[in-house]
Amino acid sequence: MIIRTLFAKLALALTLLLLGIGILYALLSSSLAHHYQQQFLQSLNRDLAEHLVTERKLVNGGVLDPHALKDTFQHYMMVNPSIEIYLLDENGNILSYSADPGQVKRDHVDLQPIQEFLRGREFPLLGDDPRSFERRKVFSATRIPRAGQPPAYLYVVLRGQEYERIEQLFQNNFLLQLSGTALLVSLLVGLVFGLVLFRLLTRRLHSLARLMRDFSASNFTRHSRWPEHPRRDDEIERLGKHYNSMAEHIQEQLEALKKQDELRRELVANVSHDLRTPLAALHGYIETLQLKANQFDAETRSEYLDIALQHSRRVTRLVDELFELAKLDASELQCQREPFAVAELVQDVIQKFRLPAEEQGVTLDMQGDAALPFVDADIGMIERVLENLIGNALQHTAAGGEVSVVLKAGEDTVQVEVHDNGSGIPPEELPHIFHRFYRAGNKERSDHHAGLGLAIAQHIVMLHGGIIEVSSEVGAGTRFSFSLPVWQA
Ligand SMILES: Nc1ncnc2c1ncn2[C@@H]1O[C@H](COP(=O)(O)OP(=O)(O)OP(=O)(O)O)[C@@H](O)[C@H]1O
Ligand SMILES: [Mg+2]
Repeated sequence: MIIRTLFAKLALALTLLLLGIGILYALLSSSLAHHYQQQFLQSLNRDLAEHLVTERKLVNGGVLDPHALKDTFQHYMMVNPSIEIYLLDENGNILSYSADPGQVKRDHVDLQPIQEFLRGREFPLLGDDPRSFERRKVFSATRIPRAGQPPAYLYVVLRGQEYERIEQLFQNNFLLQLSGTALLVSLLVGLVFGLVLFRLLTRRLHSLARLMRDFSASNFTRHSRWPEHPRRDDEIERLGKHYNSMAEHIQEQLEALKKQDELRRELVANVSHDLRTPLAALHGYIETLQLKANQFDAETRSEYLDIALQHSRRVTRLVDELFELAKLDASELQCQREPFAVAELVQDVIQKFRLPAEEQGVTLDMQGDAALPFVDADIGMIERVLENLIGNALQHTAAGGEVSVVLKAGEDTVQVEVHDNGSGIPPEELPHIFHRFYRAGNKERSDHHAGLGLAIAQHIVMLHGGIIEVSSEVGAGTRFSFSLPVWQA
């Protein structure tokens, strides 16, 4: 049979433990009682042998009186059958005895305990029982001097049937019975209390196990919380708290996965839409050119070709951006960090945008600290970020406006800011502009931008351990900022 619940296991263990304690106690107390009984008996009869010798006048004029001895034996056989008297020579050989001759098996007993007895060693002392080869019993003994011979010993074995009596002792002894009952009752009470306690403790564990089972049965979607008790702090409570945070974590992860999945679908839909539009246009212009090439004059043909080329650039751009994002997502793109002067890079990028800015009538310049430390970053990536930020600023700034890149030295960073005094972004749209394919309402739907630039820029800045921040006011302008780590030589 397999015990399935912790409570049953604990209950079984407790029962066995208490049973063991009970048995051990009974064995111990019986052996102690036996020991005490023997000690008591021997102390009580310490001088019995000596008294026998003096009172019964066993020694007469330095010689052992055989008649007196025989008298004594017979007397005690009748008066006190529970003692047996033996006369031993100096080597322990039995010379004569009071007991029934048929029952005495030994003809010799060990003298050592007798000598210890005479020297006054602590009781109980056990000597050989001549009636058996194995049994040992408490005794009393005395030395009997014999004229011209080594002394003999009177050896009195106490309580012939002592073993049988000791059993009776337990039945008759009120104290022992009482302590036995007390033990039994306290063990039972202990068992009951233990079981109640175990039940209380395992009940919480049981309910925690049920919570976990329900959670996993609901496919990790429904999480009933473990009711936390701030004042309790045991393993079960901690387990419960860990379960709560684990379950929340699992749910968050599942939510994130779901969201990611939705985002992926949206992305695919956006990508197909954004690719289809320029491709259809491209297709249309080329087809028209092919069909009506002869009817068009050179100028119209070149105009059609220009438009087709624009659409083709748009597709290329989109595919490039998507590819870049995918690489950033897969963390394949590691930054190739190197020390460089960020002001020089900014100048280069501004140079690229100078012509379109002039055409647009927008001034484009760099401001800020003159002496800046080298930064430690990936030049290509940072160039990409600057291109997008400056490109965005120019797109949203009307003629007569101003776009400037401001550089500031921080503690161990260089702060890069792109300011414009263009259209600005409405506050409700600000949180979304870093999302993929998000284009704010300030932008015409038909323009050539996919809404990926800021998503890429944010990713790149994060790869460099920074964050990109934006502040904007509609009609007043926009400011993007991020910081780059200073190169430590
Ligand atoms: N300086 C700015 N002023 C006003 N609006 C801005 C500015 N920069 C970004 N935006 C808004 O944030 C949106 C997202 O910018 P993002 O650079 O991600 O996309 P995009 O420029 O439209 O497309 P792409 O960069 O992929 O060519 C833009 O569509 C625009 O509406
Ligand atoms: Mg952009």
